[in-house]
Amino acid sequence: MPDRVHAIILAAGQGTRMKSARPKVLHAVGGKPMLGHVLDAATDAGIGQSHLVLGHGAEQVRAWLETRPGAVPQAVIQAQQLGTAHAVGQALPAVPDTALVVVLYGDVPLISAATVQALIEAAQDGLALLTVTLDEPRGYGRILRDTAGRVTGIVEEKDASDAQRQIREVNTGLIAAPARRLRRWLAHVGNDNANREYYLTDVVGLAARDGVAIRTLQAASAAEVEGVNDPLQLARAERLYQRRQTERLQRDGLYLADPARFDLRGQLHIGRDVQIDIGCVIEGTVTLGDNVRIGPYCILRDVEVAAGTRIEAHSLLDDCRVGPGCVIGPYARLRPGTELGRDVHIGNFVELKKTTVGDGSKANHLAYLGDAVIGARVNVGAGVITCNYDGAHKFTTTIGDDAFIGTDSQLVAPVSIGRGAYIAAGSTIAKDAPDDQLTINRARDQRSLPGWKRPRKT
Ligand code: UD1
Ligand code: CA
Repeated sequence: MPDRVHAIILAAGQGTRMKSARPKVLHAVGGKPMLGHVLDAATDAGIGQSHLVLGHGAEQVRAWLETRPGAVPQAVIQAQQLGTAHAVGQALPAVPDTALVVVLYGDVPLISAATVQALIEAAQDGLALLTVTLDEPRGYGRILRDTAGRVTGIVEEKDASDAQRQIREVNTGLIAAPARRLRRWLAHVGNDNANREYYLTDVVGLAARDGVAIRTLQAASAAEVEGVNDPLQLARAERLYQRRQTERLQRDGLYLADPARFDLRGQLHIGRDVQIDIGCVIEGTVTLGDNVRIGPYCILRDVEVAAGTRIEAHSLLDDCRVGPGCVIGPYARLRPGTELGRDVHIGNFVELKKTTVGDGSKANHLAYLGDAVIGARVNVGAGVITCNYDGAHKFTTTIGDDAFIGTDSQLVAPVSIGRGAYIAAGSTIAKDAPDDQLTINRARDQRSLPGWKRPRKT
């Protein structure tokens, strides 16, 4: 079955109400463009081929499509948006007669693969419609039925009579039908309506007239089929999406202090007894081992954190790996290429970049460690800076096991600090420091002036 199902995804509209330079379907939900959600739902439903109908912002959409892994879906340009039937008609020539077509929308991002599958199954050799019953149906096409309950057509809000406007069962826009029938019906759709548009919904009346079976399917929820037209609806879709994710994660054993104050924009893999406090943002692919605890207001992007590690409030970890039993933060920043061993302590206002730190080492306060290779059980004092950049190139600092770097020292790379070396506080180290010795580089003439008077304001 899946091989002969083709999706046609409408995404040509301007999205005027978004009031944005970005094409509507590229606005993200959960960190992924809406169109990405729709393409993924089609793939997850087993659909082999997707055809995109693009118009406004087509170049930007195409550029984004190129960045996705896997096959780039076919795209056709609908130069003028003459209506949903016209849009489907642009893609249909590329669909074989033997295929079943499912029409999806780039701005209906929460549609589930299960619903798409159910729609495919309902179509068989006829027409399947996804409908939903709303308390407030204004703006939607209404489903018309005869006294026996059979669907006879769809009437758009603008073309509906007062009596028809009372109908609460509405069209979600999603349909499935054999390509061969759809082609024939579309040839008969005109634009004699209030909008002067070619309405896809007119195929329903044509199918009824042909005596083709029309099956309707109710969406799982109104939220699933809600379109996004403005920033308000985008934010609503975002919250719904986040709630779906948190419910799944909580059922999998994630302890969230408050699911309403948590955002996942990617994939989160968790061990047992993982706790996340409020206000955290998880992006990309993040793995948290058993008993990991994340304090409030942390941001983790593409990070692996091993078992038992604690990340304290307001820490930012980006593209790095953290070993087991570490304590990070509060207010720590781990930048790309950071790798920490086990039982490492990185404290407040410490920044690491492209730096590996061995087991049991500590940098507890106010330090910058960039392009460094740091051994085990090293103590990095407050205010230590690796001077890794000469304005043109980056250089490496190497620190041996058990070294002690006194507070407020600068390590001018390329430089190497030996095993067990002891760097006196306030030293500027530009030459290699040997193992097990005290190295000091400090102005020697500390003086105190007896009888000195503080300046006074005259
Ligand atoms: C459409 C349905 C309506 C349904 C509603 C659900 C029609 C005629 N009406 O109305 O019954 O209740 O969706 O949200 O289909 N598009 C194109 N090219 C076009 C026209 C539209 O790509 O020429 C795309 C738009 O970008 C949009 C989608 O199709 O994503 C729906 O078009 P829109 O004009 O918003 O239809 P509605 O008036 O919402
Ligand atoms: Ca719409």
